Amino acid sequence: MIVKSVLAMILTAGLATGAVTAAERAAHIMRMDDIDAARYDIEDGAAAKSAEQVQKGTTAVGDLLRAERAYFVKGGADDATAALDKTVGILRDIDAAAKAGDFTTVSARYADLQASCTACHDLKADDRIKVEG
Ligand code: HEC
Repeated sequence: MIVKSVLAMILTAGLATGAVTAAERAAHIMRMDDIDAARYDIEDGAAAKSAEQVQKGTTAVGDLLRAERAYFVKGGADDATAALDKTVGILRDIDAAAKAGDFTTVSARYADLQASCTACHDLKADDRIKVEG
């Protein structure tokens, strides 16, 4: 009984540390590059006052970030997962502002979006998420 619970504790600790496969790590880095490219539709759309272009960017970045969530959850990086959810919230604000034709808010929240990217990078989650195999 005691052996079993000690074993369970060790296993739980192992899971909490988090590990991903090499393929998952590679897919994550590729998604980040795609996010980096897609965000320019938000920036350029704001300058051109094009709701359509801004929303093309928010949709693409949002979809990619939602796909990224599983990576950070599996990696056990709770701080990064929380940072990701915050970033998705900013994207929603940008999307709503674009829909309303409020490009002042789009630009202001775009600055917040960039700060949110940096804030997550500063957490250095990949230094903690192990790659197995
Ligand atoms: C949930 C956390 C998180 C968020 C939010 C996030 N990133 Fe990343 N990003 C990472 C991690 C982790 C890496 C791996 C390298 C590192 O640790 O800096 C990375 C790497 C990158 C890279 C380098 C990819 C390569 O080829 O090496 C780019 C570019 C990038 N992110 C752009 C962005 C942009 C733009 C945003 C915001 C729209 C963003 N990221 C939001 C966590 C995040």
